Amino acid sequence: MRTKLVAGNWKMNGNLATNQALLGTIIPRLAPLTRARYAVCAPFPYLAQVQDALRGSNIALGAQDVCQFDAGAYTGGVSAAMLAEFGCRYVIVGHSERRTVFGETDEVVARKFGAAIHHGLTPILCVGELLAEREAGVTEAVVSRQLDAVIAGCGLAALGKAVLAYEPVWAIGTGKTATPQQAQAVHAFIRARIAGADRRLADELVILYGGSVKAANASQLFAMQDVDGGLIGGASLAADEFIGICRAALDAEETVRA
Ligand code: PGA
Repeated sequence: MRTKLVAGNWKMNGNLATNQALLGTIIPRLAPLTRARYAVCAPFPYLAQVQDALRGSNIALGAQDVCQFDAGAYTGGVSAAMLAEFGCRYVIVGHSERRTVFGETDEVVARKFGAAIHHGLTPILCVGELLAEREAGVTEAVVSRQLDAVIAGCGLAALGKAVLAYEPVWAIGTGKTATPQQAQAVHAFIRARIAGADRRLADELVILYGGSVKAANASQLFAMQDVDGGLIGGASLAADEFIGICRAALDAEETVRA
């Protein structure tokens, strides 16, 4: 059975003081919401701070990127082993900002995914189409290509140790959320595609939706059958918004279990 997961992606935001204030609010307020799962993905320099703050809480730590290499002359790189040492459980790989702004190819994303798995981290693999791709009717082809690169590089079974995030690029940071039906359609497509190879793996695979999720629209998205939670950018920086989204995940989880 899949458990709802809400992961905050702080992106390149925050500082020591604002991180402390944000965590100081969300940690006690999420503590009683025990039936769903929560994570925050912090910028590298703050991993130690956030690791300390989250100790003993029900919020897991994640990073936003990882180097595909294990160690060596890779200036600026941060390895999966380093992330594990700082208590990361999750790491986002293949976020559209990494793909489009930093030019990461499907093959690089697959290698990063493999490095995360190898060091016992749970990759949150992001897939999603650009607006032009949606308008051209190639959403499913794009998402399939992004997934296939990871399956080709790491094997299908590796997906069993990962979380997927469907993030239509046109919905990220734009205020334009996919409708629950648009999200559900792509989530169901992804699950069916994987079920074609391994039904059990597909049934257990957590697929998050990301792209302008807010407290006001989270419940409708999380009510969709194949939407297992959210990857939250902007709204993860506002304590009340993030807590509202986490509550929506908890309510959806309790509805499923009832
Ligand atoms: P957003 O970002 O919630 O600000 O749209 C989502 C993401 O990029 O993961």
